[in-house]
Amino acid sequence: MTDVEELRVLARADSPRGEVVLRRRLLTGACEVDELIVNGTFAMDSAETSTERALARTLPRPGAEVLVGGLGLGFTAAELLRLGAGRVEVVEIEGCLVSWARAGVTGTLAAVATDPRVRLTIADIADVLRTEDDRRWDAIVLDVDNGPDFLIHEANARVYSAELLAAAADRLRPGGVLAVWCQGPAPALALTLAGLGGAVREELTEVVRQGRQFTYAIYILTR
Ligand SMILES: C[S@@+](CC[C@H](N)C(=O)[O-])C[C@H]1O[C@@H](n2cnc3c(N)ncnc32)[C@H](O)[C@@H]1O
Repeated sequence: MTDVEELRVLARADSPRGEVVLRRRLLTGACEVDELIVNGTFAMDSAETSTERALARTLPRPGAEVLVGGLGLGFTAAELLRLGAGRVEVVEIEGCLVSWARAGVTGTLAAVATDPRVRLTIADIADVLRTEDDRRWDAIVLDVDNGPDFLIHEANARVYSAELLAAAADRLRPGGVLAVWCQGPAPALALTLAGLGGAVREELTEVVRQGRQFTYAIYILTR
């Protein structure tokens, strides 16, 4: 593992879900890694973002309109923009993260916040998906927690419920895609998605993070 020379807090705030901290690890060899800690739990870092970016590669076509649940460090949204998404609406529960993105606290967050195709909304994605409106999306991508089996926020269990996933699927245009990131295989989630009608695909990726091996999973429903 690379030695940490310095740990710098870039921003911190308290929210109803606990403390949100964005910090930067300065590693030997002039390497920097940004990390997001929520309520004392590691949420993600910028050292290994292959699966956050893979989530964006479920984009069905350039120009597509995408609803994203969870801003995080902005890697999924940035990749959607790089791939030519026409519109990216990011729903993020922590208002401080949206403020830090607008303030340009990291380069990736700044790039996302300043792109004219992006709208950042402070809300719970579960509330957004349950609201009756006639907006339809070419893709909905959800990365708000570790997945149904290892939640950071217990309240996010409803995001992975059959009711919410069905509401999300109903917001898709024909040929649309619903993609869900999980920290490990989640067979029950795959079954729930399969019950919504359409084809379900599981993408498993072996990832090494800070010396530990993980099998991250993305579940993709195409309607
Ligand atoms: C792991 S991060 C997302 C990482 C992101 N895919 C990226 O590439 O950086 C999860 C994000 O979802 C947010 N979040 C958690 N629960 C949420 C909810 N119910 N609605 C919206 N955002 C939520 C967290 O505050 C955090 O910013």
